[in-house]
Amino acid sequence: PAADPALIKAGEKAFRKCKSCHQIGAKAKNRVGPVLNGIVDGPAGAVEGFRYSKAMEAAAEDGLVWSHDALTSFLGDPKGYMKGTKMSFPGVRKEEDIEALIAYLRDASE
Ligand code: HEM
Repeated sequence: PAADPALIKAGEKAFRKCKSCHQIGAKAKNRVGPVLNGIVDGPAGAVEGFRYSKAMEAAAEDGLVWSHDALTSFLGDPKGYMKGTKMSFPGVRKEEDIEALIAYLRDASE
């Protein structure tokens, strides 16, 4: 089923706090953080040309996939979920915001 447009819209708004480091869409480029196209259900640590932390490289080697559950855990508490990640972000407190972000990340992907 197609995602709820209101949820995507809420996700776009929540993504404002990610934009200082991440881009998504056709013209997206790696910045402080990697491009997020195709990240939902995609492999961790796999964006070309981005220098990940050792922690993210290890997770990639272990085959981490950014499932809905994994993203919910990581975005809720990045450093709690992945010790050593260089994503310096305190985390998204509201689970409904994470839900919306995931819908937006899917929708905005190229
Ligand atoms: C990594 C999402 C905010 C910097 C990632 C990854 C995701 C993500 C899914 C894993 C990417 C991959 O495996 O290729 C988000 C979302 C944010 C957010 C949805 C907002 C809610 C930020 C902010 C910063 C940042 C504000 C900078 C202060 C990074 C960095 C990495 C990363 C540096 C690589 C981490 C590592 O190598 O350990 N982000 N991010 N992110 N993000 Fe974010």
